[in-house]
Amino acid sequence: MKDEKDTERIVEGFAEPEERVRENALRPKLLSDYIGQESVKEKLQILIDAAKKRKEAPEHLLFYGPPGLGKTTLAHIIANELGVNIKATAGPVIEKAGDLAAIITNLEENDILFIDEIHRLNHSVEEIMYPALEDGVLDIVIGKGPSAKTFRINLPKFTLIGATTRAGMISAPLRERFGAVYRLDFYDTESLAVILKRSADILGVKADKEGIYEIARRSRGTPRVANRLLKRVRDFAQVKANGVIDINTAKAALAMLEIDGIGLDNMDRKVITTIIDKFKGGPVGIETIAVAVSEEADTIEDVYEPFLIQMGFIQRTPSGRKVTAKAYEHFGYKKPENGELF
Ligand SMILES: Nc1ncnc2c1ncn2[C@@H]1O[C@H](COP(=O)(O)OP(=O)(O)O)[C@@H](O)[C@H]1O
Ligand SMILES: [Mg+2]
Repeated sequence: MKDEKDTERIVEGFAEPEERVRENALRPKLLSDYIGQESVKEKLQILIDAAKKRKEAPEHLLFYGPPGLGKTTLAHIIANELGVNIKATAGPVIEKAGDLAAIITNLEENDILFIDEIHRLNHSVEEIMYPALEDGVLDIVIGKGPSAKTFRINLPKFTLIGATTRAGMISAPLRERFGAVYRLDFYDTESLAVILKRSADILGVKADKEGIYEIARRSRGTPRVANRLLKRVRDFAQVKANGVIDINTAKAALAMLEIDGIGLDNMDRKVITTIIDKFKGGPVGIETIAVAVSEEADTIEDVYEPFLIQMGFIQRTPSGRKVTAKAYEHFGYKKPENGELF
């Protein structure tokens, strides 16, 4: 599975490496600046207040949801609000048990350990994590065979925050060790408009309400996509217009980027039209779709499909993915006559 995009795709939720650095400027630092996700925010506020009152590290937390919805941002906000250090790493980076031991033993009391893509931790690393999470100890085995020795290290109290795009791929024993699990949802247009206005102010870009809303509507419910589109529309406005983002510059820029009125790009269209043209609308397996559109199955599942499902264009069935009547309509097809789905 990939965690970074390797093709130019403007509406993709995953961040490019340089983008992660630039994103920091737009990343809210306080819970009150974090827009939307009201129910998650409310619960987190209580958790933060309670931890502060007790002067203790909160329980271990897991965030899940499609890329670009604000999981990493929340982890940093929690650390900031609690006034503790955060050490950030990612599942695929921690290759051996020793890598994890090195990270964990360097934590200070009440620190936060953030593990992105936690569903990609390997099994041996996961195993030594359990006692660390539960009992605050790390059992390290040195040597092999009969002469192997186990050392037990007492750890400072810390909070693990995990993030994943695939809650279903986290093993049950690991999942059970989280005190709370929060699902992030796609954002509505209003929330995205507020995020875009805030970003435009930080970037010093002039944008009117209609321009902002035009971008918000086409951002796939995803703040990372919204901020990315904002920057591209700004470039367009500076080169082709007077630098101000209004409805006309927004429309023209987004048309040039080949993003349609609801935020779908060429790849989304390809996925849908392929299922219709080659597989009679489905059901068809994700692997088969992936081969037909020359994309990785994981990428389709993580990035494209959640939004297409959210929009009501694709359904997941036990026998594979099916395209809906709404998709036939949106992409200008005649509805199939024998479509029992409809
Ligand atoms: N609720 C929010 N309010 C404001 N900006 C947000 C929000 N959620 C995400 N963002 C913006 O979107 C970008 C991507 O968020 P991030 O936390 O990296 O997503 P994830 O970790 O879920 O992939 C951040 O840089 C931040 O600027
Ligand atoms: Mg992230």
